[in-house]
Amino acid sequence: MPFPATRMRRLRRTAALRGLIRETELSPAHLVYPLFVELGTDSRTPIEAMPGIERLSISHAVEEAGEAVALGIPAVLLFGIPAEKDEQASGAYDHEGVVQLATRAIKDAHPELLVMTDVCLCEYTSHGHCGVVTPDGEVANDLTLELLAKTAISHAAAGADAVAPSDMMDGRVAALRAQLDAEGHDSTPIVAYSAKFASAFYGPFRDAAGSTPAFGDRRSYQMDPANAEEAVREVLLDVEEGADAVMVKPALAYLDVIRRVKEATRLPVAAYNVSGEYAMIKAAAASGHLDERTAVLEVLTGIRRAGADIVITYHAKDAARWLSD
Ligand code: PBG
Repeated sequence: MPFPATRMRRLRRTAALRGLIRETELSPAHLVYPLFVELGTDSRTPIEAMPGIERLSISHAVEEAGEAVALGIPAVLLFGIPAEKDEQASGAYDHEGVVQLATRAIKDAHPELLVMTDVCLCEYTSHGHCGVVTPDGEVANDLTLELLAKTAISHAAAGADAVAPSDMMDGRVAALRAQLDAEGHDSTPIVAYSAKFASAFYGPFRDAAGSTPAFGDRRSYQMDPANAEEAVREVLLDVEEGADAVMVKPALAYLDVIRRVKEATRLPVAAYNVSGEYAMIKAAAASGHLDERTAVLEVLTGIRRAGADIVITYHAKDAARWLSD
């Protein structure tokens, strides 16, 4: 029955009617708040491209985690900035490393908050690549797996509730699963950054973490932005290897991939609303070209509508505040 019998506007007349038929739910319960933690004392260092986000010493990370708890955000995702970097990324799997210490401190102070940890070498290698580099400048896949597994085990031993490998080496989910199980961490879930694209939108993160590759780029391990079939294949391989949840990253230029991954796996899907996506909204809002609150909630709802169960976002605290207003 077309117009005039059908009038789509009837159900849009009032806020209550719109609420009744809303298809996508956005609540703080779906959000994960990323934290950049660095060694050092009592400092908060602003990140220029990401207003509102800071590099935090462990004490401030604990404080920030407390704010997340108070706002109803169930999880944080930790990234570490070590005091020193080397070729073997030894800071990544040091039991006294920054993420390990921060995990213990946050779990001590806020046991109910989920602590997820990013498992990757790029913040810890002197050259900034996500794996071990051979003398001929290649990122060596199989050698890297060993170090990633050591890293994941040290995070789990420190009390991490889930580990999230973001390196894009082949076979890393299987390697992590086998070694976590062998060390008694069979209950630690793996949230795999399965479809991680080689993206310009990681720019502010790399400045924050000092992880821009010293030579070359990440296109020999991160995915080509043009490929969605391949993304589904990557994800299904991680599922076979034992991933408990899978991730698409970035989010906004890849909403179709989120949808396809959800349909192909039926697993919990996470989407990472990355640093450059945050920086764009912040910059446009600061210059008065966008209403920040409306834009952020629209973007996060869009990511959920595309099929993401979990949304990792630097907007988490603001969004949680706005959603409870
Ligand atoms: C580490 C990692 C990156 C991000 C998350 N984990 C950077 C990269 O691959 O260069 C990006 C997150 C963001 O931009 O917010 N491999």
